[in-house]
Amino acid sequence: MRVASRVFAALAAAGLAFVVVSGVVDSSAAALPTASAPEPPIEELTPIRDTVVFPVGVAIDSRETEGATSELLLRHFDQVTPENAMKPESWYDAAHEFAPSPEIASLMDFAAANDLRVYGHVLVWHNQIPAWFFERADGTPLTTAPADQQILKDRMHDHIFAVAKYLSDNWGSFGGGNPVVAFDVVNEAVVEGASDNLGMRPSDWYRVLGERYVDLAFRYADEAFNQMYAAPGAAHPVALFINDYNTDQPTKRAVYLALIDRLLARGVPIDGIGHQFHVGLDVPVDNLARALDDSGGRGLVQAVTEMDVPTGTPPSDATFLEQGYYYRDAFRVFRDRADDLFSVTVWGLYDARSWRDSQGGPLVFDDALRAKPAYYGIVEGHADEAPLAEFLGGSGSTSPMLYVAGAALLASLGAAWLVWRRRHSAGVAGRAKVHPDAGVSADEALATLSRRLPPSGR
Ligand code: G3I
Repeated sequence: MRVASRVFAALAAAGLAFVVVSGVVDSSAAALPTASAPEPPIEELTPIRDTVVFPVGVAIDSRETEGATSELLLRHFDQVTPENAMKPESWYDAAHEFAPSPEIASLMDFAAANDLRVYGHVLVWHNQIPAWFFERADGTPLTTAPADQQILKDRMHDHIFAVAKYLSDNWGSFGGGNPVVAFDVVNEAVVEGASDNLGMRPSDWYRVLGERYVDLAFRYADEAFNQMYAAPGAAHPVALFINDYNTDQPTKRAVYLALIDRLLARGVPIDGIGHQFHVGLDVPVDNLARALDDSGGRGLVQAVTEMDVPTGTPPSDATFLEQGYYYRDAFRVFRDRADDLFSVTVWGLYDARSWRDSQGGPLVFDDALRAKPAYYGIVEGHADEAPLAEFLGGSGSTSPMLYVAGAALLASLGAAWLVWRRRHSAGVAGRAKVHPDAGVSADEALATLSRRLPPSGR
């Protein structure tokens, strides 16, 4: 019976694999629906969040707070980062008045209603910030004169406190029901390759205030989020992060960690080290492990804050499978270091929503909201053995459901094959990007779906 079970399971897997990877069953769902088109059904897959012990997040805007995209998000993730909505420019109107973007309320309402954690992004950054922050009232640039420095300190203070007050007034005090659990306080403060200024980025923040702007940002954020607007008795409810990219590169990591060590030596209230991990298939996964390992031992938590892995162009079945291996190996690294990790976040829900989509779909779900090999790679690391037979409803003995499922899926396989033959012979390319009809063998697809990807040698 076990043999029969395995045969059915394998055939069923092949059917499923073909259906999922070829995309022939729902070839019309190649793009997100327009207002009049039906939304694609969300696959009933094991939630990613159930396969990891750390919170798993995704960067979003209000487009992901309703409809099928929100359904996909809520199935797999338990934390969200506002991709753009909480950057400095999003809090002010053209008259320089504090006027929070409606995007912020959309995201916070969605998080509160669905019990999602919010990882705030970002309080102090050189990018996406109004130019007037660095100007006097008459429009001339701030200098290092003490009066100008005071203007910028006050602006930073008032910005951080206004953000904390707005979030706490509307969604509860921090640690008392507010979904915000962390914030990127300072983003991208260092640059690699700089031979002066200890690698500090020559931003307007640095030009006017020097390195101490970083200290000030953390002190103000601690006072605002963890004291003034914290729930009574809540112990340090909002984790305060520094965040940067290319921490997988030794030269960048060295200046980043040196800054963090100086902050710690000065008693700056920093809680966490963020690694953006905007990487690519050419970056060895071992580099990610080194980034996390080298950053450890400081009494700080760490977070993967913005992960994405473009395949390069043009993307193909082969590169998407390689991307699946990459995500699998990266999540193995993360699982092995779970004790140090505050959360792991991917920078977007599906490929077309990525700022790097033109470099080859970098995310976990495709534009029809279907799981890519990247998804199967991520969940693959969850268990040593995750046989598809169990997934279908039996392990030791053969469940009747297995026969039913196997028969149904064999029928699917046959139907899919017929459709594929018809489309292929008619020269219909189908969805060129993620699910081209040709190029993925049943073996490859089965390997993906049965979560038995062989070692990649990475
Ligand atoms: O909002 C305007 C819209 O009104 C306008 O019509 C449109 C036309 O291009 O632009 C819109 O703004 C864009 C904004 O995203 C919102 O979509 C900007 O042009 C675009 O530059 C901006 O890109 C963001 C980028 O940061 C800016 O630096 C990306 O979405 C966002 O993913 C990216 O995120 C950063 C992290 O915050 C920090 N780490 C690096 C990462 C990539 O730069």
